[in-house]
Amino acid sequence: MERTTLSTYPIAVFSSGHSRGSNLAAMHKYFMEQGFLVGIALAVFTREDCSALILAQDLGIPTVVIKAADMAAFETEALKLCKERNICLIALTGFMKQLSAQFIEQAGIPVLNVHPALLPKYGGKGMYGLAVHNAVWEAGDKISGATVHHVDPLYDNGRIIAQSVVDISQCASPEDISKQVLSAEHELYPHSIFHYLRK
Ligand code: GAR
Repeated sequence: MERTTLSTYPIAVFSSGHSRGSNLAAMHKYFMEQGFLVGIALAVFTREDCSALILAQDLGIPTVVIKAADMAAFETEALKLCKERNICLIALTGFMKQLSAQFIEQAGIPVLNVHPALLPKYGGKGMYGLAVHNAVWEAGDKISGATVHHVDPLYDNGRIIAQSVVDISQCASPEDISKQVLSAEHELYPHSIFHYLRK
């Protein structure tokens, strides 16, 4: 069942309490279609009562819960597991906690995130969830997008590795923008991880 642990490129995903697991599921589907050359070999959750945890287990992905009340303890445990399992990339999937510069350095592997807008304009503290789409809506922009970037301790300022532009000129609300952008994330994130690892 745990086919993903045998992948040439085993990756880990981290999700915190509010994750819906939609990016995790999109990644798993894409990697399966590519024959699991890249596979999610470890899904780390910060809470047991997270719907994305059940979803990951249903998909046969090895899961672990590490509480994040103490972020230093979380990072130590998560790092240990990633080393033990030869993880070659960490992808954040609905992980709303801040990872330290020390963690990113000690991991020694790419730590990526997907942002629901075009960076660098719509980054910064508090820019997640509907707040991002509200800002885009209020600015009257005709385009938004998704951005895959290296995680940086300064909130979404990390090096950009891929972006896709979404036409939002027909969107009737920030919620509508959110739906369009999430679909774009589901295409962009798995695809960019796959090609990033294979380059
Ligand atoms: C996604 O929209 C992602 O862009 C956002 O959290 C959501 C997770 O969805 N991340 C950020 O805003 C990070 N700055 P998911 O739990 O369904 O994958």
